[in-house]
Amino acid sequence: MSIDYSEQIPNNVDLAGNKTLQRALEHWQPEFRNWWGEMGPDGSQNFDVYLRTAVSVDPKGWAHFDYVKMPDYRWGIFLNAAEPDRKVNFGVHKGEPAWQEVPGEHRANLRRLIVTQGDTEPASVEQQRHLGLTAPSLYDLRNLFQVNVEEGRHLWAMVYLLHAYFGRDGREEAEALLERRSGDADNPRILGAFNEKTPDWLAFFMFTYFTDRDGKYQLCSLAESGFDPLARTCRFMLTEEAHHMFVGETGVGRVIQRTCDVMNQLASDDPAKVRAQGAIDLPTIQRYLNFHFSVTMDLFGADVSSNAATFYSTGLKGRFDETKIADDHLLTGASYPVLEVRDGKLVVTDAPALNALNEKLRDDYVKDALAGIERWNRIIEKAGLPMRLKAPHKAFNRKIGPLSAARIDPEGSVISDGEWAAKQAQWIPSEADRAFVASLMGRVVEPGQFANWIAPPARGINNQPVDFAYVRFN
Ligand SMILES: [Fe+2]
Ligand SMILES: [Fe+2]
Repeated sequence: MSIDYSEQIPNNVDLAGNKTLQRALEHWQPEFRNWWGEMGPDGSQNFDVYLRTAVSVDPKGWAHFDYVKMPDYRWGIFLNAAEPDRKVNFGVHKGEPAWQEVPGEHRANLRRLIVTQGDTEPASVEQQRHLGLTAPSLYDLRNLFQVNVEEGRHLWAMVYLLHAYFGRDGREEAEALLERRSGDADNPRILGAFNEKTPDWLAFFMFTYFTDRDGKYQLCSLAESGFDPLARTCRFMLTEEAHHMFVGETGVGRVIQRTCDVMNQLASDDPAKVRAQGAIDLPTIQRYLNFHFSVTMDLFGADVSSNAATFYSTGLKGRFDETKIADDHLLTGASYPVLEVRDGKLVVTDAPALNALNEKLRDDYVKDALAGIERWNRIIEKAGLPMRLKAPHKAFNRKIGPLSAARIDPEGSVISDGEWAAKQAQWIPSEADRAFVASLMGRVVEPGQFANWIAPPARGINNQPVDFAYVRFN
């Protein structure tokens, strides 16, 4: 399963054996390169970046590290190996052989799922476009570019499916994926969180921790799909997604480490004093956490959703770890708890499990996200400091679903508009918080040097030293 890099589009899907498809993708490729030139990392032209490129999908060989001249990264198409005799594992088609072609009756829904996933990939590159100009170190700059090129490759992964399996409307969707723009008033990206700005590096680390983790859960659900090419594509994407979440978790952890060091030097937890030393105070980090957590909650969609039920029943999108769950995989007669606002309070009600699949995925996600927050807390604990970070209630600050109709505080209490207005600045970053964090951002380009607001990482990339020249500017 190695990849032929002499081909124009590296792939392990035998593109050379399907000339029509190859030509369609070779036609899309220059449009992709134009998009990358316009919307990819700002000012990175001609940089040599120490990047990981997939050269094979087997566990030993998929991570090949070398310097790559930045605009010449070779985006390819890779699917995990086929599982012999794979079946549709849930829904009304359960037990049928997995589909190698798109079933006509499910075509529109499948295309919608692929387009929605595909749209998030270029969106995050657009959101992060300017961050290279203020990277706190060469190590971090390299990680940013790694995430960016892989999101570009994830776009390729979805565009391959559209071109290979959806004919003319697939090709039109592939073009539209390069036309929408994050935050554009007239032609925005599909999902709300992907139209928010990623204004600074703390936001970037929070985004890669929280929002890329939503990506993980969406990909895990799609990796259960009865449509086998989608399942295999998403399985391979997950190996890359893991690094994005690593960048987020260690990034936030290093910001916390630096803050704790400054607090101990000062023997003070006064945010103003911490800020005066050029570090980010823990309450500000908590507000960033609250914001990114709540924005990501919305990405899972409405708590009760007939679309989610349809996607599941028809075998298109499964649950997280579907095949490890011991039930009928049909959800006949099953129920699942969802939240509702009733008489000024959050109450738990039972919804049909089929309709509550977004909520179930959200809950699976929350468990995973909380574990990393506890790892951040251990950094604070080790520094001998009493404060702890905490995820807000999953109903906090929601913009989608019935919970968006109420004002809900981080503890999960329904509050008035007046109370929200009065306390909002304690809970989510204010303009002043963002301006302060922005004031710390500045590019650090000497190997082994780090901006004052962040600690160095424990180790380098691919066993290279921390002071390795991860980027050469030429
Ligand atoms: Fe991605
Ligand atoms: Fe990602």
